[in-house]
Amino acid sequence: MKTRVLGIEGTAWNLSAAVVDNDDVISEVTETYQPETGGIHPREAAQHHAKYASTVIQQLLEDIKNKGIDPKNLDAIAFSQGPGLGPCLRTVATAARMLSLTLDIPIIGVNHCIAHIEVGKWKTPAKDPVVLYVSGANSQVLAYRKGKYRVFGETLDVGIGNALDKFARSAGLPHPGGPRIEGHAKRSINYIPLPYIVKGMDFSFSGLTTAAKDALKFASMEDVCYSFQETAFAMMVEVTERALAHTGKNEVLLAGGVGANMRLREMLDIMCDERGASFYVPEKRFMGDNGAMIAYLGLLMYKSDSIAGIENSHVNSNFRPDAVDVTWI
Ligand code: ATP
Ligand code: FE2
Repeated sequence: MKTRVLGIEGTAWNLSAAVVDNDDVISEVTETYQPETGGIHPREAAQHHAKYASTVIQQLLEDIKNKGIDPKNLDAIAFSQGPGLGPCLRTVATAARMLSLTLDIPIIGVNHCIAHIEVGKWKTPAKDPVVLYVSGANSQVLAYRKGKYRVFGETLDVGIGNALDKFARSAGLPHPGGPRIEGHAKRSINYIPLPYIVKGMDFSFSGLTTAAKDALKFASMEDVCYSFQETAFAMMVEVTERALAHTGKNEVLLAGGVGANMRLREMLDIMCDERGASFYVPEKRFMGDNGAMIAYLGLLMYKSDSIAGIENSHVNSNFRPDAVDVTWI
């Protein structure tokens, strides 16, 4: 018998539910929140998730029924327990608890960051990689060691995606800013010096964001976008390379929405090439927030008996990946 798990993601802008088995995604339904102005408003995003949760889940259940799977025969319901925006997390957890009780199936809270990592390992040949996880709110370099995903380096302030989005907003570019900045950056090779901040194994982006904003007063959008990317990405590639050297691992996996950026991929690829390491990037649909990654981590936890029960299904907006005991490796 195949194990099948339903997973619900909704830590920020994307509400997405999926059913997976050991081999593949059986079905996925997604409903994305788009802010009318500015960035994500946590309460509005949560209201969006509350409004669409039942339709998304119903559509998903209909779809698996059409594929011959009775929802009662699912093995577990997984959901993003954190990190993320509090109001969004609570909405999704409530939906997951209801579904778990209605179908009488165990509930499994999963760590969103680790879900990004495990889906990447599932959908690429990576086995034991150093992971660069770069999204809106998070920027971390992680690797597995002795029962946990250890954080080797991370941002001391905002995530790289939020830094890009914030700079873009101040430059009058629409949200999300990351892809816009990439577009402008492609049209320049003129580097303007900006603050490169790596402290030990950690990095920081807020000084860079402010300096880039100021640079727009005397330099072109193209040059500033180019220089912003070159600086921020070089900081993260440096830390990733040092994590490779330190751990002795020979694979790098890129995860998270900012991983869509082709220049970041190119820089990591060059670094890996020079060190004789392999570089892996999953398909784009598995990089940004998605329900399949939550379902898949739920499946790994279910199979390794990591089921906490409904009494332990509280959310944690600062849930760290290195707080999780990895029972499935
Ligand atoms: P998390 O909850 O893990 O922090 P998230 O809600 O921020 O995730 P993701 O989909 O992982 O969602 O990442 C979204 C971020 O990715 C946004 O900040 C967006 O600007 C950025 N992004 C998307 N495409 C690109 C790109 N091509 N270049 C740079 N940044 C990008
Ligand atoms: Fe994410």
